[in-house]
Amino acid sequence: MSLQRACATTEVEPAAATQVTLTDGAGKQILVCVARDSDGTWHAIGDTCSHARVSLSEGDVFDHEIECWKHGSSFDLFTGKPNSLPAVKPVPVFALEISGADVLVDVDHTI
Ligand code: FES
Repeated sequence: MSLQRACATTEVEPAAATQVTLTDGAGKQILVCVARDSDGTWHAIGDTCSHARVSLSEGDVFDHEIECWKHGSSFDLFTGKPNSLPAVKPVPVFALEISGADVLVDVDHTI
């Protein structure tokens, strides 16, 4: 697979996130959290918290982390690693590019 359009750049403000559904090369649907950190830098991580099956995009973004709304683990948007308990496993980080007004994500390319 390759880069797919995830959303428009106007859809996510700095320190915010949204959930999108993309399809990987095997035809499987992947929930992706497209987020901008406090500096406005774009990120794409797996949207399902590694602790339980809730959406990270519904959490709060601060600095370069997103906080799971359910139990409070914060995930680094650059690495996908949890910085606080109870989550201990990372979430995937996907390749992302901005092309004009579009946000493109490659769910087959984790970084
Ligand atoms: S469900 Fe995310 S920290 Fe528990």
